[in-house]
Amino acid sequence: MGILSGKRVLVTGVLTDASIAFHVARIAQQEGATVVLTGFGRLTLVERIARRLPEPPPVLELDVTDTGQLASLAERVSVHVDGLDGVVHSIGNAPQSALGGNFLHTPWEDVASAVHISTYSLKALAVAALPLMSRGGAIVGLDFDASVAWPGYDWMGVAKAGLESCARYLARDLGPKGIRVNLMAAGPLKTIAARSIPGFDGLAEPWGERAPLGWDVSDPEPAARGCVALLSDWFPATTGEIVHVDGGAHAIGA
Ligand SMILES: NC(=O)c1ccc[n+]([C@@H]2O[C@H](COP(=O)([O-])OP(=O)(O)OC[C@H]3O[C@@H](n4cnc5c(N)ncnc54)[C@H](O)[C@@H]3O)[C@@H](O)[C@H]2O)c1
Repeated sequence: MGILSGKRVLVTGVLTDASIAFHVARIAQQEGATVVLTGFGRLTLVERIARRLPEPPPVLELDVTDTGQLASLAERVSVHVDGLDGVVHSIGNAPQSALGGNFLHTPWEDVASAVHISTYSLKALAVAALPLMSRGGAIVGLDFDASVAWPGYDWMGVAKAGLESCARYLARDLGPKGIRVNLMAAGPLKTIAARSIPGFDGLAEPWGERAPLGWDVSDPEPAARGCVALLSDWFPATTGEIVHVDGGAHAIGA
């Protein structure tokens, strides 16, 4: 019996087997969940990666900026599972002009794209999945600590600050339906999304020295376990929360 035994979980954001979402899906299955994945764009690649999971799950197409795909999501998911106990939002993207020290010169269109994909999408995904959810359900999003300004993270940092706020408002509005909404703030991990951030290595390297528990940028397991714990019934009275899985770095001054 795992901590997600009998639960049905929708996991977005698998792109490679380094994706945090891949490891969330893997551990969720190991803990007894039935998993459905969504993929963006390169669907055949996502399907190939999905075959590396303990039980290859179905992969549905979802671009979180596509209102048609969002509107049909519940119906498409319900072909595979008769409801959802958990939804994982593991999605982020910003145009290059929004990252890497160009903060003062990023045009609104590029900021809007970052916020649409990385922030508003949490609300859009929650509403799309809501017809399949009931009391005891959990939504978990992936965050990077937005309480300070980071080198190079720029408008993605602003989008993450918005995501933190968005999660609190969702927690307010979905709480009466018995649905929890929480974020997991991971320390830096080497993924495709991380590679697109200029100066990521400079941000990631000192992390392990600052973190009381240390931090391995190549090990997504702690972050994935944190997500699975938040999906489980072991946080029954926690919502609107940000759980840091970063080796403790957030608690320590420079
Ligand atoms: N890697 C890190 O250091 C780190 C740290 C903390 C939080 N996070 C967050 O974790 C989440 C997952 O990122 P990752 O590091 O696993 O990288 P990743 O590149 O593997 O995942 C990012 C995902 O976002 C998806 N995506 C982009 N645009 C989309 C769209 N329009 N519709 C649907 N999906 C779209 C991509 O397909 C990809 O699967 C992101 O929210 C990221 O900000 C990452």
